[in-house]
Amino acid sequence: MDRIKITGGQKLNGEIPISGAKNAALPLLIASLLTPDRLTLKNVPNLADVNLLVRILRNHGVDFAIDGKRTDPNPHIGETFHLTARDIVDTTAPYEMVSRMRASFWVLGPLLARMGEAKVSLPGGCAIGTRPVDMHLQGLKALGADLQIDAGYVLAKAPKGGLRGGRIQFNKVSVGATHQVLLAAALARGETVIENAAREPEVGDVADCLVKMGAKIEGIGTSTLRIEGRDRLEGAVHTVLPDRIETGTFAFAVAATGGDVTLSGTRRDLLSNALEALAETGTQVHDVDGGIRIVRNGGGVAPVTIETQPFPGFPTDLQAQLMALMTRASGTSVIRETIFENRFMHVQELARLGADIQLHGDTATIKGVKALRGAPVMATDLRASVSLVIAGLMAEGDTTINRVYHLDRGFEQLEAKLTRCGAVIERISG
Ligand code: EPZ
Repeated sequence: MDRIKITGGQKLNGEIPISGAKNAALPLLIASLLTPDRLTLKNVPNLADVNLLVRILRNHGVDFAIDGKRTDPNPHIGETFHLTARDIVDTTAPYEMVSRMRASFWVLGPLLARMGEAKVSLPGGCAIGTRPVDMHLQGLKALGADLQIDAGYVLAKAPKGGLRGGRIQFNKVSVGATHQVLLAAALARGETVIENAAREPEVGDVADCLVKMGAKIEGIGTSTLRIEGRDRLEGAVHTVLPDRIETGTFAFAVAATGGDVTLSGTRRDLLSNALEALAETGTQVHDVDGGIRIVRNGGGVAPVTIETQPFPGFPTDLQAQLMALMTRASGTSVIRETIFENRFMHVQELARLGADIQLHGDTATIKGVKALRGAPVMATDLRASVSLVIAGLMAEGDTTINRVYHLDRGFEQLEAKLTRCGAVIERISG
């Protein structure tokens, strides 16, 4: 199993190109199931999760092609995928595949809308909480679906004549349930209204793509989505938006080590709240042409108090990275996790490096320490893993991160991007 070794203490300086967003690319790939025509996606990141989803989609009959080959692995340039689901040959998404990645459960709505039936395994994914799917099922039922759960599978059938528009009032914000219903509603008869829809930029990106494919959608970017479905959707060409979590992760890394890095190909509006928190720490955030420049030269890191919230609040997917930064703050920070009940698995690993963190229920209190010391640590989920990378970059001496396959799920060319900016980081195979 691969490991990553980091020798800490180097400042980061230079430029880091930001990849396309994993969490937009996944539902966009799934949107290919909705049309027999070709869907072309540009700026797709080369990640383990993307590759796994392509395998799942091929199983359903999606014809897949990729433009050219990336000859220069450094810097990243994004890939162009062509997906054509002329005929859906299989409406079953098996346990072996869906259990490895939660987002693959989102094929349920599109398969049901297009084929009138689907059998999809209940999902797995990162171990960060119980993560039920009741809201997904509530949404599809509102579109007329008959749903049974049997032997770990959801067995879904559309009514005669196919799914029809419906009204859904979610009682909490769910990114996945919003994607699920949005994708299905685009191919349902009549109007669907989703109240309390997720406003995450990735949801907007999927809605924009569905509009290009022929659906009529109002309220994109707001918590009320009105979707006028179509009998048939068409092919489209769409560019995946920049990854805001990757952007925030590198921004926090620069704040952690000090230095001056331009994050190119990204946008401040995708993570305004997180960048405000970063500014509070004393780090400078500048708008530059085509990106954001992060600077911290001299000066310490001030502590902050935040709680995670759905967009536009502080993202849960950056909570672990902020905590890593706060381990060296000049005072006490408080971070409350409100989205997932079990998303603190990085705490004990950060403690191995010398961090002082007290956990009470959903709240972590972090007392900044003078220095972290490198140590062997274990990555437990994607964002927890990258928080250990940030801590390793700050620590004195060597940090070895085990189980790096979590990182490969969501960070494209992490070591190459950091090495270009002066980090001492290498992958040890085997
Ligand atoms: C998406 O997960 C992201 N995954 C997650 O990123 C992200 O952390 C999360 O949204 C929150 O922003 C992808 O986009 C692929 P939710 P999702 O449904 O859709 C509860 C990463 O590291 N809930 O918005 O699974 C749920 O338990 C990943 O890239 C229900 O109760 O998250 C949670 O408490 C990890 N019933 C809350 O809603 C449901 O039916 C929000 O979850 C669905 C969700």
